[in-house]
Amino acid sequence: MSTLRRHDTSPVQLSPVLAALEQYPFTQLDAWRAEARERGLDVIDFGVGDPREPTPSFIRDALVAGVGEVSSYPRAVGLPAYREAVAGWIARRFGVDVDPATEVVPTLGSKEAIFSFAQVATGGRRLVAVPEPGYPVYERGALFAGAEVVAVPLREETGWLPDLDAFDRWDELALFWTCYPSNPTGATATLSFYEELAARAREHGFLVCSDEAYSELWFGELPVSALQLADRTNVVVFNTLSKRSSMTGYRCGFVCAAPDVCDALRAFRPTTGTAPQEFVQRAGIAAYADERHVDEVRVVYRRKRETLLPALETAGLRLAGGDATFFLWLAVDGPSEEAARRLLGHGLLLAPGSFFGPAGEGYLRLALVPSQADCERAAAIFEEAGARSGEAPV
Ligand SMILES: Cc1ncc(COP(=O)(O)O)c(C=O)c1O
Repeated sequence: MSTLRRHDTSPVQLSPVLAALEQYPFTQLDAWRAEARERGLDVIDFGVGDPREPTPSFIRDALVAGVGEVSSYPRAVGLPAYREAVAGWIARRFGVDVDPATEVVPTLGSKEAIFSFAQVATGGRRLVAVPEPGYPVYERGALFAGAEVVAVPLREETGWLPDLDAFDRWDELALFWTCYPSNPTGATATLSFYEELAARAREHGFLVCSDEAYSELWFGELPVSALQLADRTNVVVFNTLSKRSSMTGYRCGFVCAAPDVCDALRAFRPTTGTAPQEFVQRAGIAAYADERHVDEVRVVYRRKRETLLPALETAGLRLAGGDATFFLWLAVDGPSEEAARRLLGHGLLLAPGSFFGPAGEGYLRLALVPSQADCERAAAIFEEAGARSGEAPV
């Protein structure tokens, strides 16, 4: 029986998963910002990780040049030239050869592919392991697929890597999600960590899902990829141009995995209508062929990091996370939400660590997305607040 609203008499019956879900945490930040602005505060927004750097003009030009007179449905398999551009980038960046025909699937950014992956790849096994603190989409996608979710806590003492020896449900597992460089902690993984996890995946028959959205934003050592494993049989990598090339609005990324996983995605995706627009893929081809703009964007974020880090220290906010991504993961005394609210009183909007799961309690995440001028203004506010009170403002 249809439960859709007819005229205005019968209410829409929500999916029980949707009804049970808490609000997407970041929509709360919008409400806080609006509230603070209503109170007359000039808010500097370090909340959501949406880059506000311009997309390089050669990428925009490639998009425009890719818009043809006739616009047909794109194919889920993607343009061969886009898949080749991705494979070429993987070869140059990670020194790994992947087959563009069988091992690369284009995606609309990586969020949709991450969300729907549990629908494609949880069969007899229904358990999905997600990192905590972590990006909420792994869990939400698994729940909508009817899977069971187990949170794997990440802790500062272990460098924000999961303690694989403490996990004991390997034989029930369908998917194990990782995210390095990490949102929200900025931590990076080692190849030996991926080796250990992939060995367990082969032994117990699950897939390692490696979300590498921030692989190009690094300020210490060059991050490794799970693609660099000698045996990639059980490994699925998700990457995107959103952060690397400041292209969040384009929705352009890829999945790289073994041919059987890619076959499953190519079977699923025409049904969901998630075939990326060809003019976007043309822009993606241009973006993947160039590294200079990526070097330049790293310089921009590095300068913002260096502007803010000393001021944060003066304010008593300790950098507790790693040195990659455009996030600073900061330790605070007491509950995250209270700390975030106090900072909002100074006109600074940061995301409470608790928005990333209970293991994020006691931390704040600062996204280095405001302009350099606003970061300088914010640094002065952090410093002044720290100096004036002689103690942390949070
Ligand atoms: C950890 C992580 N993974 C994936 C994504 C998805 O990015 P996109 O869909 O823009 O590629 C984001 C976006 O913020 C993210 O933070």
